[in-house]
Order: sequence, then C-alpha cells, then structure tokens
Amino acid sequence: MKIMVVGGGGREHAIIKKLKENKSVTEIYALPGNGGIAADAVCVNIGAKDIGKIVDFAKTNVVDFAVVAPDDPLVLGAVDALESAGVPCFGPDKKAAVIEGSKRFSKELMKKYGIPTAAFETFTDVESALEYVAHCNIPVVIKADGLALGKGVIIAKSRAEAADAVNSMMRDKKFGDSGTTVVIEQFLSGPEVSVLAFTDGKTVKPMVSSMDHKRAGNGDTGLNTGGMGTIAPNPFYTDEIAAECMEKIFLPTINAMCREGRAFKGCLYFGLMLTEDGPRVIEYNCRFGDPETQVVLPLLESDLLEIMQACRNGTLDKTEVRFKNGAAACVVMASDGYPEKYDTGFEIDLSGNKSSEVFVAGAKLESGVLFTSGGRVLGVTAVGDTLDSALETAYADVKRITFKNAYYRDDIGARALSAFKD
Ligand code: AMP
Ligand code: GLY
Repeated sequence: MKIMVVGGGGREHAIIKKLKENKSVTEIYALPGNGGIAADAVCVNIGAKDIGKIVDFAKTNVVDFAVVAPDDPLVLGAVDALESAGVPCFGPDKKAAVIEGSKRFSKELMKKYGIPTAAFETFTDVESALEYVAHCNIPVVIKADGLALGKGVIIAKSRAEAADAVNSMMRDKKFGDSGTTVVIEQFLSGPEVSVLAFTDGKTVKPMVSSMDHKRAGNGDTGLNTGGMGTIAPNPFYTDEIAAECMEKIFLPTINAMCREGRAFKGCLYFGLMLTEDGPRVIEYNCRFGDPETQVVLPLLESDLLEIMQACRNGTLDKTEVRFKNGAAACVVMASDGYPEKYDTGFEIDLSGNKSSEVFVAGAKLESGVLFTSGGRVLGVTAVGDTLDSALETAYADVKRITFKNAYYRDDIGARALSAFKD
C-alpha cells in the first residue's frame, strides 16, 4: 500500500514510524515532511495547506490511503477534497474540523449538550467585550475564535491585561481574522491532561493519556510554546476519572457532533483540566496533538494503519486499540531563543543516541547531513517500565545528541512524578 501523510513535524514523524510497522505498507510519502522524516519516508515539496497540489499528487501517484495530520488543512477541507477525488483518508471533514477551527462553535456545542467546560461569553463587538472585562472575575481567559498557531489564548491576571488582550485581538487584529470573534471564559485550575481518542463518528476509543509541558522554561515559566515535552500515561488521570470522562465528555461529544450533522472521524483531542469540581474541557483539537503523539504512539501495541482505516470505514467497534504497560517520556530539544528569535543552520549529531526514538520536527538535510531549521528541532522519546526509567533514558540520550544552541527543559515529568508522592 502507498500511504501519504500530510504535514512535516515531530507528530508526523511519529505517525510515519508507526505506520511503517504494518507489513502491507510499501511506500510512504510525506508532504512536505522534513530532513529527519526523509530517513523514513519520501518527502515531497508540497505545503500542507496546498490542497490542490496535495490532491493532484495523491491521484498521480495512486495513493491508497492518506493521513491529514495538521489543523490547517483539516479546517480548510483537505479530507473532503481527497475523498471526493477517491482517496480514502484518516481525518475529519471540514464540517467536523470546525470543533477546533472555531472556539465559539465548540463552546456553544458544549453548552447545548451539557458537556462540562468553563463558563463563557462570546463577543463580536469590541465595546461589549471591554465592558464585560471591566466587571468580570479576574483572572479571566481571552481566546481568539479561530486558529492562531496555539497562541490565541491569553490568561489575564488584571483588568488592564484583559482590556489589552481584547484590544490586541479585536482592534489590532493580532491574530488576523481569528480574533474577529472572541470567547471570554472563566479561569480554571488543576492538573491538565491530554486525551487523544480514535473515533469513527459512533464509537470512541481513547488512547493512553498524556501531559504536555507548554511553557518554555523550567517550572512552567516563560512563554507558551508548541510543547517542550510530554509524558504518558498521565498519573493524575486515574481509572475513575477516565470512566467519568467517557460518560460525561467523550461519548456526549461524539454523539453531539453526530446530532449536529458533523460526525467526527479521525483523532479527536480532548484538552482537559481536572478541577476540584470534576474534569472540564479546556479545548478540542481535530487532530493528534504534538508532542503528545510522540509519547502516545510509541506505546501503541495495535496496528495504527488498521485503526485508521477502521475510523474511516466505521468499523472501530470491531478493531482493537491496545497500549503497552509502562510509560513514555519525550523531551523536546529546541533552538535557544524559541519561541521568539533563534538561529538555525547548525549541524545535528544524532550518533550518540543509544536507546531513544528521535522524532524530527525542524531540520533540513543537505548532502546527507542534518541541520537545524526550526524552533522545535526534535523530540527524544524513551519507553520504560516506569515513568522514572523512561525519563532517565530520554535525558541520557538528550545529553548525547548535540547541535549548537540546543535548549531543552530539565524538568519534563517532574510534576507527574510528584503525583506519585501524595
Ligand atoms: P489552548 O490554546 O486552548 O490549549 O490554551 C492554552 C493553555 O491555556 C491551556 O493549555 C491552559 O493551560 C490554558 N487555559 C486555557 N483555557 C483556560 C481556562 N479556562 N482556565 C485556565 N487556563 C486555561
Ligand atoms: N500539544 C498541544 C497541541 O497539539 O495542540
């Protein structure tokens, strides 16, 4: 089988490596992929948002199955275009991808169907939003409605910050049209859990839970990033909480999307906060999370391609989704300065790596040599019997992988380990 994976980050590298375990896979194309992915797939220089060219490529090369991984092409309708051209796809269609594409949509869906989330108001008029933040409880969370590269969420700790956030999104258009509508919501606190779930629109099978580390600095300080590391499973997410989430969040969401005529097929990402009043949905994503995928897929024991086909064909109820016991840890190695200004073009030496899997996110290949080309450069993932041992292995390999200006957090997993000490 010829497979095409749309996207080019660490998540896509993890998906490609897992797909390769299926014996019927003969060829994998990555559009556009990256210099590190080139070791595992044929990289084709077509951007993930260039839907016309993606469809043409799939038809010309007789692709048997496509996986659309990033949010942008999903929200733009890449799956609809590929399916119309006769290419079977893993991923939600445009109607279903709106669950990530519009925060207003997702918040109203949760309100309508009684799915637990932070209380909120929606605004399309800047004066009304400013009036609201002049009187609401503080802290308050201000979110741009549309996609904003994970940066459209501002937690305001004072009224002045809240007003600044409203003005920057709605007046100054800091996130372009994404900020034409804003959602202003109640600030919640508690451990965060990411749960990625396979679904065919009717059946939902959650994957092992995980924890992201979004801030750039140790101790969860500094700017928000695309994710500096992950661990799985998330120890705060007990079996009891998992059962509660299935009953109150996962199944109601899948059923709600069906009832709205937007059946969701693919990977639905539940960003949850475990508050004192129970689990709450912080966000939905219409895709695999990154770097969550870099710890979740290495723990998957069942065949990824078969599961993806079952999600597309509506047979997930008959398909096994099994995970290994044990734990996984991923430490992201970034370019110093990320997520702001950083230099690239430094040679990467992976030869010291002993036992981790390396998923490459931002690197280019020149004459057989890898050079850094992005903020997040690579993820180093280790699997172990315990979280402690997975972290130890991952960090030992991080120290053996070298490139100039490498930066990583020293405390990935520390908060999770503290859960065992209570
Ligand atoms: P998002 O882009 O929706 O993932 O939000 C980014 C981060 O902002 C989340 O991972 C949370 O840490 C934080 N966040 C979002 N919504 C809230 C909320 N209502 N209360 C507290 N923190 C939040
Ligand atoms: N790790 C968060 C995300 O993929 O959006």
